[in-house]
Amino acid sequence: MTLKKYTTEEIGKMREEYLLPSTMTYFTEPLSIVRGEMQYVYDDAGRKYLDAFSAVVTISVGHCHPDIVPKVVEQVRTLQHMTTLYYHPVIVTYAKRLADIMPGDLKVSFFVNSGCEANELSAILAKNHTGAQEFLALRHSFHGRTLMAMSLTGQSLWRHSLPYVFGVSHIPAGYCYRCPYGISYPACDLACARQAEEVIRYSTSGRIAGFIAEPIQGFGGVICPPKEYFGVVAEIVRRYGGLFISDEVQTGFGRTGGAMWGIEHWGVVPDIIAMAKGIGNGAPLGAVTTTRAIADSMRGKVHFNTYGGNPVSMTQGLGVIEVIEKYGYPRNAREMGDRLVAGFRGLQERHPLIGEVRGMGLMLGIELVRDRKTKEPAARETLRIMDLCKERGLLVGKGAMAGNVVRIKPPLCIDAADADFIIATLDECLGIVERGGEAAPQ
Ligand SMILES: Cc1ncc(COP(=O)(O)O)c(C=O)c1O
Repeated sequence: MTLKKYTTEEIGKMREEYLLPSTMTYFTEPLSIVRGEMQYVYDDAGRKYLDAFSAVVTISVGHCHPDIVPKVVEQVRTLQHMTTLYYHPVIVTYAKRLADIMPGDLKVSFFVNSGCEANELSAILAKNHTGAQEFLALRHSFHGRTLMAMSLTGQSLWRHSLPYVFGVSHIPAGYCYRCPYGISYPACDLACARQAEEVIRYSTSGRIAGFIAEPIQGFGGVICPPKEYFGVVAEIVRRYGGLFISDEVQTGFGRTGGAMWGIEHWGVVPDIIAMAKGIGNGAPLGAVTTTRAIADSMRGKVHFNTYGGNPVSMTQGLGVIEVIEKYGYPRNAREMGDRLVAGFRGLQERHPLIGEVRGMGLMLGIELVRDRKTKEPAARETLRIMDLCKERGLLVGKGAMAGNVVRIKPPLCIDAADADFIIATLDECLGIVERGGEAAPQ
């Protein structure tokens, strides 16, 4: 089957007619991507872009990675689909491989198709294991677009369809740049993290099933809490009977640099890890991994997911782990991340629009403000910078409640020349906007 070639205008019209109107796009002029090759993508006119947003933090090891594609093609030829009602070798091979790279005693997995499903299942596991029903989550968080995941999400932007699942309370994220208490780290003594106890005591039954958090918040704007933050929360959560669920949908598989899991940087071993996006490098794959004891709370209960454990997704997942280890991508993520942060901090000295540079590895954010004193979010300027970068062959993302954080999260395979290109392009685009280059209409 050959696909008809459509122009960007035709695709736009067909989206209007046939897709849900809430299907959004980036950029003033939508971009039509037709091909990918490691850290680069190409539009319908053959223009090359450095994909510094990894198709929303999903391409972990590179578009159409040449080590992985032949294996997936071979699997498609051999067995496209089989469910867990039958035995097949790929699912167990992959589950064992995943167990090898997990922290602590997290050894038992269940496979799903997406991040929200992984978080849903994590919540089900926590409820089953603890017998409790309520959850703590973080303000500014994003956990997906199913009802439970939306209820756990801590941003009004992503919580627009009532009714929610009850029993979720949100506590402050460790967002020092905009501390809700107006105090400073470390003198604050982690007041935000200590709120977990207040909220459990005053807003729940006093027993919780769990706490869910992204180690570094993605859609929330790359919020990266102080190093003691998760240790403090984990101790409180466990004292009140809850499990610690690490939503590693964005931070997993080496993205934060030097470690496989984001939460490792906080020295906490979670009870459950939820994964998606980078796990499959573009395949619709998600997973939950937990301890034997927690998994056993599901014994005797039927659980099933049609595509969970699909041999093609499992093959892709295996390929991802293989190349992460073969090419040392977590190390590269740390080195390239350090190079980018150093460059961005240099830009911060020259560009008043930059309020804060934050993140780890290749999970980086630059918060833009109109005035460093008032910290007024520079949302329109962020959109303009995204457009200007695109015109120069660089794709970046955005995040935060106000949409004023430029998100830089390229595939883990970028090299020093790519990092320098990102820095130089942002330098030029920030300059244009600061010199009065008009902001894009919202
Ligand atoms: C941290 C996090 N959790 C969960 C999700 C939901 O994943 P999915 O869109 O695959 O359902 C996302 C999606 O962006 C995410 O960033």
